[in-house]
Amino acid sequence: MHVSAALTLLAGTVVAAKTQLGWGFGGSAYQIEGAWNEDGKGVSVYDKWFHDGNGLIPGDRNNPNGDVAADHYHRYKDDLKHLSQLKATAYRFSISWPRILPNCNGTVNEAGVKFYSDYIDEIIKNGAEPYLTMFHWDTPQACQDRYGGWQSDLIVEDFLNYADILFQNYGDRIKYWLPLNEPEANCQFGWGVGMFAPGIKGGDPVHFECFHRSHLLHARIVQLARSKYADKAKNWKFGMPSIISWIEPADPTSKADVDQANFELGKYAGWFFDPTVFGDYGAETKADTWMGKYVPKFSVSDASILKGTVDFIGLNYYSASSASASGKQVNLATQPTSEPWQTVYPAGLRKIINWLYKRYSMDIIVTEIGYPGVNENVTTLDDIVGGVNDGWRHKFWEEHLTNLTAAVEEDKMPVKAFLAWALMDNFEWISYWYRFGCIAVDFNNGTLARTVKNSTVWMSNYFNTHYDNP
Ligand code: NOJ
Repeated sequence: MHVSAALTLLAGTVVAAKTQLGWGFGGSAYQIEGAWNEDGKGVSVYDKWFHDGNGLIPGDRNNPNGDVAADHYHRYKDDLKHLSQLKATAYRFSISWPRILPNCNGTVNEAGVKFYSDYIDEIIKNGAEPYLTMFHWDTPQACQDRYGGWQSDLIVEDFLNYADILFQNYGDRIKYWLPLNEPEANCQFGWGVGMFAPGIKGGDPVHFECFHRSHLLHARIVQLARSKYADKAKNWKFGMPSIISWIEPADPTSKADVDQANFELGKYAGWFFDPTVFGDYGAETKADTWMGKYVPKFSVSDASILKGTVDFIGLNYYSASSASASGKQVNLATQPTSEPWQTVYPAGLRKIINWLYKRYSMDIIVTEIGYPGVNENVTTLDDIVGGVNDGWRHKFWEEHLTNLTAAVEEDKMPVKAFLAWALMDNFEWISYWYRFGCIAVDFNNGTLARTVKNSTVWMSNYFNTHYDNP
């Protein structure tokens, strides 16, 4: 039964029970931790990439990288206190693989294992459910040097060993496991077009092979969990956070436009989600002229281990576009953003949730959603202090949360949690220019001081008024 529909009789008064929905924030190791070479951590492909002087954008401050980032490694106890202060009930974090296995040779760094154990305790102590991402792109450089990282099947056994260590050490406290974050982006940017670490320009064949391998790896990880840790795994939930945009028919009254938009959505969903739900790429993916040419085939045994290896759809929602049979485009943006690839379209959140549910009939967790602010009146990077009084961000959250609530309350969509990206301002892979944080970090004067943005206090009130803790 849908909880919001339930009525509780309390001392003679009829009180409508609120829907249960987890809410909180996310973050990833390389983007916030810093401490790149401390306590036995190995070098990741991102450490090397930026140390080699790659990834700079014109006008950016000298040599930005994640060496210090938000110094979360040293400040995490104070940072995580914000969860209880804001009454958040969920927090998504990632483990740095090279902090656990620095040399990609099976030798475990016990200090790294302990760090994340303490970290998980701290999340729980602050009243939040930890969501553990095993891989948020910081591949150990040693795996890259030895066999080309995600270009080789050798990564599968190494990663399985890593996953096993995480299950052993954290399986008593973790229920939500996100083995791979946006593997398509990792493969495309890192190994396909080479604009992110480690900068391999393997083109489409390598990009598609790498993502194919990621699907199979995900399946093997879940298979390992369900066989070796069968008892605990009964309560574990697995998902693969993937970025998917809403695609709106340019003319919603035109059947041809609606069909085109559905095809476009289907080809991405069929590439990102279908394999772990159904055991194969989607029909639209195979029919697409670009994707169809490169998606490899799953064997019958691959399909059987893949099918059913997610318990929820992990939705990273950031953007929207339009599609039509004639090629006509409509501008959906409701507000400006500093990210060139983002179109802010809050109604798209409700629509994509409905669309995904129709295709998969599964729980949905919004594993990321966020806004980097607007660089208005900014002439140099140092003018950005984090936008504490950020009206645009307030509008962003208010309109998206209205649509979330419509999806949950009116459309009865089984959305189980909403994780705002990100807890704090961080290194957005190429620059500190983009301020996705719900807590500002002052990167400009070296203090890295934290200030909760006003829109975040508003968001906390919204969730605590509209929803109950799961
Ligand atoms: C997706 C990625 O998972 C995250 O690392 C990044 O910061 C956000 N999108 C914003 O671009």
